[in-house]
Amino acid sequence: MPSFCGLELEHPIVNGSGTYDVIAARRAFGEALIESFPFSAFVSKTITLEPRAGNPPPRLFETPAGLINSIGLPNKGLQGYLERDLPELAALPVPLITNVMGSTAAEIAALLEAVDDRDEIAAVELNVSCPNVRTGLDIGADPRELAAVLDAVRRRTSKPLIVKLTPNTADVALVAEAAEASGADAVSLINTLRAFAPAVGPDAVAGEAWLGGGTGGLSGPAIRAVALAQVSAVARRVTIPVVGMGGVQSGAHAAQMLGAGATLVAVGTESFRDPAAGARIRDELRDFSAKSGSFAR
Ligand SMILES: Cc1cc2nc3c(=O)[nH]c(=O)nc-3n(C[C@H](O)[C@H](O)[C@H](O)COP(=O)(O)O)c2cc1C
Repeated sequence: MPSFCGLELEHPIVNGSGTYDVIAARRAFGEALIESFPFSAFVSKTITLEPRAGNPPPRLFETPAGLINSIGLPNKGLQGYLERDLPELAALPVPLITNVMGSTAAEIAALLEAVDDRDEIAAVELNVSCPNVRTGLDIGADPRELAAVLDAVRRRTSKPLIVKLTPNTADVALVAEAAEASGADAVSLINTLRAFAPAVGPDAVAGEAWLGGGTGGLSGPAIRAVALAQVSAVARRVTIPVVGMGGVQSGAHAAQMLGAGATLVAVGTESFRDPAAGARIRDELRDFSAKSGSFAR
């Protein structure tokens, strides 16, 4: 049973933010989903202060070993989330982690304060793969920038704060150290890697993008080796727990993430290929742990 930010969780498998629509899944699979819930905690998709429509289509491009998405974080905004999604998410049989993102410290502070008021929410995940409106740089790409934002907002919530790091940076371990020094209770990684899909087809113009958003984020098996390297680098440099993700498709892959130093492992893109992936990976990891005697936490 992993202990994570004061939460005693049944097993180490959670979902990656934005990759499992649990409200739709419950409609499709009914109470069977709740009775054998795949994840030991549920992570919401990113919410922002105001509603967002997301990027224009097309939003997905399949590569030989992964997915490039330019979904653009469509969401109902804070009020829509609290009023419409939270009651359903709070009824899940596991702790709820709410993922938030803002492009200024003031926006992030407002999100943290709102979430802090809600007992249904066990912890907050702060997605820092968001451009700062002033500099245009991702907040999580630079350790000083991230520290400045966290120093300004950390005291706005007493809930455990997980900082979801971006892999699109020179030294992710340096950013993780800055997050820990500025009050993060855990870090999660990796988010998607910036990627480009060229337009295809008879009318395609050289250099033009396939995705409506221009560039997108690469996820899935293609990024697993990068994820293992980054999780391992971060776990060696921080004392707070690490949530590892990126291309996990099996219990063996989850065990590799734990071996790299993660306390929890998130399943993302694999849930699009196999909607039952979370439960399968949880069970495979349990069998793997029983056989090898390791990772039985
Ligand atoms: C379609 C899609 C939507 C995503 N939405 C979010 C999101 O809303 N917030 C977030 O922090 N990460 C989001 N992610 C990133 C995943 O949570 C995860 O960090 C990443 O995909 C790597 O894991 P994977 O290779 O197992 O998918 C999204 C990924 C995908 C593929």
